Amino acid sequence: MSTQKPNNDALWGGRFSEATDAFVQEFTASVQFDQRMAGEDIRGSRAHARMLGVQGVLTADEVNQIDEGLKQIEAEIQAGEFEWSIAREDVHMNIEARLTDLIGDVGKKLHTGRSRNDQVATDIRLWLRSQIDAIKGQIQRLQSGILTLADEHADLIMPGFTHLQTAQPVTFGHHLLAWYEMLDRDYQRFDDAQSRMNRCPLGAAALAGTTFPIDRHFTARELGFDAPTRNSLDSVSDRDFAMEFLSAASITSIHLTRMSEELIIWASAQFNFIDLPDRFCTGSSIMPQKKNPDVPELVRGKSGRVVGHLMSLLMLMKSQPLAYNKDNQEDKEPLFDTVDTLMGCLMSFADMVPAIVPNADAMREATLKGFATATDLADYLVRKGLPFRDAHDVVGAAVGAGVANGRDLAEFSLAELQAFDARIEADVFDVLTLEGSVNARDHFGGTAPNQVRRQVAEARARLG
Ligand code: ARG
Repeated sequence: MSTQKPNNDALWGGRFSEATDAFVQEFTASVQFDQRMAGEDIRGSRAHARMLGVQGVLTADEVNQIDEGLKQIEAEIQAGEFEWSIAREDVHMNIEARLTDLIGDVGKKLHTGRSRNDQVATDIRLWLRSQIDAIKGQIQRLQSGILTLADEHADLIMPGFTHLQTAQPVTFGHHLLAWYEMLDRDYQRFDDAQSRMNRCPLGAAALAGTTFPIDRHFTARELGFDAPTRNSLDSVSDRDFAMEFLSAASITSIHLTRMSEELIIWASAQFNFIDLPDRFCTGSSIMPQKKNPDVPELVRGKSGRVVGHLMSLLMLMKSQPLAYNKDNQEDKEPLFDTVDTLMGCLMSFADMVPAIVPNADAMREATLKGFATATDLADYLVRKGLPFRDAHDVVGAAVGAGVANGRDLAEFSLAELQAFDARIEADVFDVLTLEGSVNARDHFGGTAPNQVRRQVAEARARLG
């Protein structure tokens, strides 16, 4: 960052009689972070200049000079040779001032018929739109890894939990498909947010529009927007698209914390359901036996930043009168950090999930312990003619006896079971086995291995 004298380069200095306080200059600048949108800013400026050319506001030669100048600036930025200046406040004025350095007075015509207010609103939309593409790509990569693992373990039985208490046997593949579904909705939310933000604010100028004969449909098309925004005041003040993005990011982050928490529990010595490959874990500097699930723990922790950024932006926008206010400059850092944080979380999950190694024996043993097939016995009695509520009672008594004697239902003899209800016959053992239990839930959305394989195939076809 160069240390120019205050306001030497400010593009708005005409009505000012003294220089901006040096601290205020630094305090109000945004170039330290908004230079990240330089590519989008240049793209927007090139489209704006072309439009001014087509409309006869600029000559073909002027448009050409501006275009060449902007291309050179882009190359300078990419090469790391561009000198960003705090005195030039933000990415927009840094680029515009450099353009004038390069091509002289023609550079000063670029800002005809626009304002930084519509310019920044355009830049953020362009930037966020492409970042969401990257996020969606990572979500799909994670989903694809989940499907591979689910398919491989469509038959693997584990306890399904409610209240973190053993509830009913499920298949590991089925559990993984629940994660897939959460991510599927996340993907749709991003997709939806993206389509709503894909309107071009350019041409709204400061707030009221411009006196020049602009063609807003032209710039919208050039920049790949579906249409121009409809109201100039709204165009420069709307940040819903950013709030919406942060909401979608927060929900995804929270989903990732749920998956993280399960991985952390499953990887504990007490559960021992899975092994996380060493490359996703670290050790302890004091306890030689430790292998810590750092990646899921960090992903769980990072959700705090993402949800915090959503809160920041909501508070930033609260009660702001129309149209643009300088407050809005504070929208960028939360957005940037959210994108970086979420991308990191998704990328590490997409790498890690397919590498999870389940421990079939431990899962089976745990499922056998918690009376997981009690509901199957109740359903069996219903099929033998008992109303469900009475069947629930009978099985409750059997479970009570099992707890007292340290035995699972399948470990009772037929005679012992018949003591609870005479309708019980030898075929009861078919439903008391874990395989019998999961295979019986063979309907759309159920846990049966058949259904898991079917869902995997359908999801694969959707993912493409
Ligand atoms: N740096 C500003 C921002 O991020 C650009 C828009 C400034 N507009 C203004 N009228 N001061 O919001």
